[in-house]
Amino acid sequence: MIRDYIFGGNWKLQYPTVETSVKAAKDIADQLSTIDVEAFIAPSPNALYEVGRMIKESNLKLAGQNMHFMQKGAFTGEVSIDGLLEAGCEYVLLGHSERRRIFGEIDEMINKKVHTALDNDMKVVLCIGETASERANGDMAKVNMEQLSGSLKDVSEVQLNNIVIAYEPVWAINNEYLNPGVKIKAATIEEANESHAVVREWFVKNYGQSVSEKIRIQYGGSMKPTNAKELLSQRDIDGGLIGGASLKAETFIPILNSIK
Ligand code: PGA
Repeated sequence: MIRDYIFGGNWKLQYPTVETSVKAAKDIADQLSTIDVEAFIAPSPNALYEVGRMIKESNLKLAGQNMHFMQKGAFTGEVSIDGLLEAGCEYVLLGHSERRRIFGEIDEMINKKVHTALDNDMKVVLCIGETASERANGDMAKVNMEQLSGSLKDVSEVQLNNIVIAYEPVWAINNEYLNPGVKIKAATIEEANESHAVVREWFVKNYGQSVSEKIRIQYGGSMKPTNAKELLSQRDIDGGLIGGASLKAETFIPILNSIK
């Protein structure tokens, strides 16, 4: 494997209080101490600072779930990059499908956030992915390439060292608002490979072969201990961005262990 695996736990708003978040973070940090892999959790902003304090001495890293592109100002309800840095975040998730599809974020806005993050020494996990209908219409490649082009506009080759891509097909994300009334399941190996190859190829075209081989592409969407091993053994899958199964050490840790 030329690239090191990277795993993230996207906690969304599943632990809405500081107390529940800190407890779960402690369990995961304790168990991660014996595993040599890069992993972060992204707690809700309410709990970020306290979770950061709890895991400070551990090898579990901290990530923000989102941030505003302006560092400060009259932006009611927003999260600042300085707040993320103060809490101890090394990464920030940008462009998650829930942000794009529920909160209306567009690539232009995500691109501004990417630049603000990179200019302030914050690493970015850029999330992309197509919906079920986009895939059914044969637009999977087009949608993902457009999101990459829009979100990474004017990002230099050097800056890409601080970017991880999370390919998350919207239809595989365990989210009843994004996928009302359908049975949600992870992408098959074939589907995941097809999409990861599209993403890798976009980097070949836009940055060249050697850069494309270095960029890490996580898979996200219903990754669990039962399907992780097979997904993670694929050449172009360099880790996972995990929602539901990252909430507890009992399910998150076995996913990380499945790369052994
Ligand atoms: P899920 O979420 O693992 O619960 O499907 C993944 C994500 O939204 O990042």
